[in-house]
Parts: sequence; C-alpha cells; structure tokens
Amino acid sequence: MRKPRILVVGSCNMDYTFGGDRFPKEGETVMGDSFSTAAGGKGANQACQAARAGAKVDFIGRIGQDANGSELMRGLGEMGIDTSMTVLDPESTTGCALIELERHAEGTRNRIMVVPGAQIRFRDGELDFLRDRIGRYDMVLLQLEISMSANETVADMAKEAGVPVMLNPAPYAPMSRGFLQNVSFISPNEHEAAEMTGIAITDWESAEKAAAAIAESGPGNVLITMGEAGALLYYEGKTVRVPSVKTEAVDPTAAGDSFVGAFCAAYAAGLAPDDSMIFASHAASLTVSGYGAQPSIPDINRIMKKLGDTASRFDRDALSRLTGGN
Ligand SMILES: Nc1ncnc2c1ncn2[C@@H]1O[C@H](COP(=O)(O)OP(=O)(O)O)[C@@H](O)[C@H]1O
Ligand SMILES: [Mg+2]
Repeated sequence: MRKPRILVVGSCNMDYTFGGDRFPKEGETVMGDSFSTAAGGKGANQACQAARAGAKVDFIGRIGQDANGSELMRGLGEMGIDTSMTVLDPESTTGCALIELERHAEGTRNRIMVVPGAQIRFRDGELDFLRDRIGRYDMVLLQLEISMSANETVADMAKEAGVPVMLNPAPYAPMSRGFLQNVSFISPNEHEAAEMTGIAITDWESAEKAAAAIAESGPGNVLITMGEAGALLYYEGKTVRVPSVKTEAVDPTAAGDSFVGAFCAAYAAGLAPDDSMIFASHAASLTVSGYGAQPSIPDINRIMKKLGDTASRFDRDALSRLTGGN
C-alpha cells in the first residue's frame, strides 16, 4: 500500500512567546514570567498534520541561513517530512513571530507581530524545478503566508500536471481569478469566506450560500470551517454539514491547520469527501483539546481512536494507506 503523497509549499515560523501580568506601554520595560519558543507557520502546521495523519509529505519553504531555519527543518524532518527542496536565502531571516500574552483573571489577551522574512521573497524561477516533478504528488497544499506569485506559480504547474490543489486562503488576501481557477479545493474559515463573498456567515444556510458563490469563482469544491459550529463541504454541487466533535477545547490554535491537513491526507488516500470531512473534524477536535500548535496536532493512532466505530464505514483500502503503507 502506497501512502498518499502531498506537497506543501508554504510558511514556517519560529514563535517566541512572552507572558506576563501586563503588556509594556510605549517606552516602558516590564518583567514577564514565562517564555517559550515553538515551531509554527500555517505551511509547517498543515504539513505536520498531513504527515501525522499518515501521508508522505514534502515541504518546500523559504528560510534564512540561521539557527531558526535549521531548527524548523530538523523538527519537520523528525516528523518524517522531506524538506530537502526548501530554498535557503542567506540575505533574509527565517520567519518568526513575537507573541505577547497578558494574563488576567478573566483570561489571556495576546498581541502578535510576525516578521515573515525569507518566505515572502520567493524569486521568479526559484520554483521552476517543480514543473518536472509536481506530477508525482496526489495533492498540493497551499496557504497565503508566502508570496502570492509563488502560490500562483505552483498552482499553475499543478493544474498543468493534473494534480488537485487545496488552498487554505489564510491570512485572507484578495486572489486573482486565474489563481482561483487553478485551485480545486479551497478551505476558508467563516471570516475568510465572508471576506471572499461579502456574505456574513451566521448559520448553515448562509455558509451554503457563501460556498456556492466561492465555487462559482473558480475552486469547484469548498470547505468552510466555522470553529465549534462545525464545517461545511460543498463538493460537486452538493453540500454536506459536518458538526464539530464535542470536546473540552483549551486552545483553538491550529484548529484550521489541523482540519485542512487531515482532510488532504484522507482525501488523497482515497477516502470519500464526506468521510474525509469527518476524519478531519475528529483530528481538529483533538488539536483544540491540547495546547500549542504542533504539540497538539494528533497522529493517526489518536485520530483512529477518537473516530472509534465511525471509521468502520470508511473505505478500508483508503484508510489502510494512512494507517499502514509506506
Ligand atoms: N471548540 C471546538 N470544539 C471542537 N472542534 C472544534 C472547535 N473549534 C474548532 N474545531 C474544529 O476545527 C475546525 C476548524 O476550526 P476553525 O476555527 O474554523 O479554523 P481556523 O483555525 O482556521 O479559524 C472546525 O471546523 C471544527 O471541526
Ligand atoms: Mg476560527
């Protein structure tokens, strides 16, 4: 059994999280009480979920020649992800984010500054080597944290090679019609779907309306995720409503990354689209029940356990490409 092959071209960041009682004011220095570093970036998070769900994943990022870059690649490598095609830019820094947390009795506020560095500097021609090899993947997964032109180039090559592209349009940015027409799946959350259509998403009906409008604009198949309210699939003109899996949610970080990474692994393995949605919603429910992005992203064993009897109706051969395979 051959594992599904997925190519992720996208972002990877080192997150620096500082916590304390209050944010410093302008010009002020305050003492904090916690510090941690963690790997993040939507591209890396989604690659992590697809790999842990059982896919064979290649990741192409763009990093500086610095300690963060090597640390991030080492982390992805430990998950079995091939990062050998990642582009090194000695003139830029690896993407990083400063996350400040201010803790209150009522909860925690955050402020985040992201310096994308090398990853928004893909140059013309830098990804041309992919044209000859993109046909070997079952699916290509993109987000909007790298330069739009790099995404457009990859989607164009994938379309030419007949490989389906999943685009997670986050963080939201206006996209050209040509780009959207090279995408077969798109996975906005409720806010991104509202940005794309002008339709406020408040319930299943408004989500269905937005999904149909987005499908009309190019990507024929649309997944709209709506946090705890669940997710909607619009596939070949039909809609499927997938409620979220009840869980004790402690940290919503990477919920969407987990959902889309797991969906791609399942769909590329050959699971039916609606079953792939159910698989993804179980994975994402585990992600929100743990802290952090990559640390909380579940592997196939935890997803199968969470699915329990629900998995018995899934296509067995497809599922075994994720649970076994190589
Ligand atoms: N509180 C929650 N409980 C259970 N599942 C959740 C919860 N929050 C999110 N999810 C799952 O994660 C998916 C993606 O979450 P969402 O918030 O829509 O993505 P994003 O992180 O992009 O905003 C949801 O469709 C749902 O399946
Ligand atoms: Mg959300």
